[in-house]
Amino acid sequence: MRTTQVTDGVHRLSANVSNILFEGLWEIPNGVAMNSYVVKGEKSAIIDGVCDWDGVPETLFDQLDQMQVRLEDIDYVIVNHMEPDHSGWLEPFKKLRSNFTVICTEKAGALLESFYGIVDDVRTVSSGDTLDLGNGRVLAFEEIPNVHWPETMVTYDTKSGTLFSCDAFGSFGAVSNDAPYDDALTDEHIEFFEREMERYYANIVAAFSRPTENAIKKLDGLDVRIIAPGHGIVWRHDPERVVRAYRRLAGYAKGPARPEVTVIWGSMYGMTEKAVRPVVNAIESEGIPTRVHRVPETKPSFVLDSVFQSSGVVLGMPTYEYKMFPPMANIVDEIGKKRMINRRAFRFGSYGWSGGAQRELDELTDRLKMHWQWLDPVEFRGRPTVEDLELISERGRELARSVKEWVYTESG
Ligand code: FEO
Repeated sequence: MRTTQVTDGVHRLSANVSNILFEGLWEIPNGVAMNSYVVKGEKSAIIDGVCDWDGVPETLFDQLDQMQVRLEDIDYVIVNHMEPDHSGWLEPFKKLRSNFTVICTEKAGALLESFYGIVDDVRTVSSGDTLDLGNGRVLAFEEIPNVHWPETMVTYDTKSGTLFSCDAFGSFGAVSNDAPYDDALTDEHIEFFEREMERYYANIVAAFSRPTENAIKKLDGLDVRIIAPGHGIVWRHDPERVVRAYRRLAGYAKGPARPEVTVIWGSMYGMTEKAVRPVVNAIESEGIPTRVHRVPETKPSFVLDSVFQSSGVVLGMPTYEYKMFPPMANIVDEIGKKRMINRRAFRFGSYGWSGGAQRELDELTDRLKMHWQWLDPVEFRGRPTVEDLELISERGRELARSVKEWVYTESG
């Protein structure tokens, strides 16, 4: 963990984590930063916590020393969001210092007791409430439910214009503690975080895109000069850049997204695979780029990111034991649960003695209310014939044209 000064009276305390599956589920090959902030007036507050704190008192004392804050100066702990990547440090912290007030929403208060047995010294707040730290530093609170849990709020420092946004405006990607700010990064580095933001959004936030749009509207009225999220870099030079990115991503959830097609395929013995290159070539011949992933080789967090960014999707999937090829069934189930709706789509695939994959796919996408517009599927027994490949290629071109028309009509 290391501290840096965000602006006068506001410090960032952060740790990079890479040896976990985020939420016990998602790969983070580039790591992720867990950010916490200390805000100083006459009184001091810690906003959110760092899950990577080892619980060793000296580690924390060293961090506080760097910010010229003593443990006994911490009067408030502000819990914007109860997910344990932010709140998990509360228990060990309370063993070091018991005399502070937790500030959180009413819904978070209920979880504080369930998760950590904390019931005393809790002050619940709602939108519009404020906390005066003295020296002209007043913190204001705004609830942003379901970004990413129902109890979530943001904290806004009226003195510096800093928005402590927790998961909102966050990203994957480890952050160099020498350059945790957008004004200290090259364009190349910022683009890296924007790509990691897209994968973070697709994996963590996508299912809550409507609440995210609502949250962005709510925050529109604030004079936000700095965005300090719980994950990723601090946007101090151009906070509007990350707001624009989140607004765009929230729109992708209901489509259209980019004028691109994601091709996901799986194959047991190479029969379905024979049609992958022809369909990719056909789509690209219409000027539409593709992102191609084989399952289960490509990990789900990357496939989800790709589908989220694309307006069109092709599934190359054989029948397996009268049903969908299992890795494809898993990924389609997750796509639906992440509420990636309204895509243009096409499926092809091989079968042996019997089909069945298409029936299960239709049932699954209906049950998940995905509202994808499908071209007629092409199924073939064993390997595809020349005629099958011609038909699959024609579907690929048709899909590409449909995506082009949709995206360019919507974007005017
Ligand atoms: Fe970073 Fe929803 O927790």
